[in-house]
Amino acid sequence: MDVLALQERILAEVSAAGDAGALEAVRVAALGKKGSVTEALKRLGGMTPEERRERGPALNALKAAVAGAIESRRGALEAAALDARLATEAVDVTLPIRPERRGHIHPLTRTMENIAAIFGGMGFSRAEGPDVEDDWHNFTALNFPPDHPAREMQDTFFLDKAAGRLLRTHTSPVQIRHMQERQPPFRVISLGRTYRCDSDATHSPMFHQVEALYVDKGVHMGHLKGCLARFLAAYFGVEEVPMRLRPSFFPFVEPGAEVDIRVPGADRWLEVLGCGMVHPNVLKNCGIDPDQWQGFALGAGLERLTMLKLGISDLRPMFASDPRWLAHYGEVA
Ligand code: PHE
Repeated sequence: MDVLALQERILAEVSAAGDAGALEAVRVAALGKKGSVTEALKRLGGMTPEERRERGPALNALKAAVAGAIESRRGALEAAALDARLATEAVDVTLPIRPERRGHIHPLTRTMENIAAIFGGMGFSRAEGPDVEDDWHNFTALNFPPDHPAREMQDTFFLDKAAGRLLRTHTSPVQIRHMQERQPPFRVISLGRTYRCDSDATHSPMFHQVEALYVDKGVHMGHLKGCLARFLAAYFGVEEVPMRLRPSFFPFVEPGAEVDIRVPGADRWLEVLGCGMVHPNVLKNCGIDPDQWQGFALGAGLERLTMLKLGISDLRPMFASDPRWLAHYGEVA
């Protein structure tokens, strides 16, 4: 058998194979179990050692040459197939692009950023606390009496009533956490989610509050009022917001007040936040001496403030994730 003639024939078949299927047929005919090259190699077994030594290298070289040629032909066929696809499936780069949908900053997020910036300008830094609170931080340390209605299941989401684990009903527990860990003076605000069993057009079971706390020597109601006036004017973007403090009760402040304002264009007083001088018991509960330090605190609902500023009457769409609502009230990111 002429090895070179066989090699020439097979290599010619390899070059002639026009697609992967034809190439595979050539491979099987040469290198398959009953292929011509395989058969020739098998015949080596029946030869004398001398013959084998003589013919073996040539046959092995034939096998390697055929395998190499098949591999490179396979690569060439694949490249050609890809070229053909690229040529026929050309992308028209002159087509106008699909309009890109830009996201919007949620109005509540914007409100939080605004408020953080306004209080930041007055020297307040940010403090944080967990959404899942315990009874002590949310109520007891804040001077709530044992029978206060907020401690009932109708008002508060308890995760485990016996263990006193609950979803915080206000951001005031952040005051406690902050004061427990350090000594005054300090000025902090806390922004975040709060929860109450309440749901209608102006109440959501999950809502947001801002809490501000200022503790120092000689702090009094005048400081509180000044801070409120500055905050409200900056937030609503006006020279001055008409405001009145109405005496009110919160167990953690004394005296306590609710703040009513007239927003630009409104013809009546609207209640927007609670505030007061930090109750001496609260300072004591946190290891702060009330004879040395005084403080004020204020807390406001962010949905309310946002609705007043943007003229939104129903709170529920705020949490419905409707892109049309977000596009209308949100700002382009
Ligand atoms: N935590 C009170 C509330 O949620 C608001 C408040 C904060 C009142 C600070 C006084 C001082 O209603």
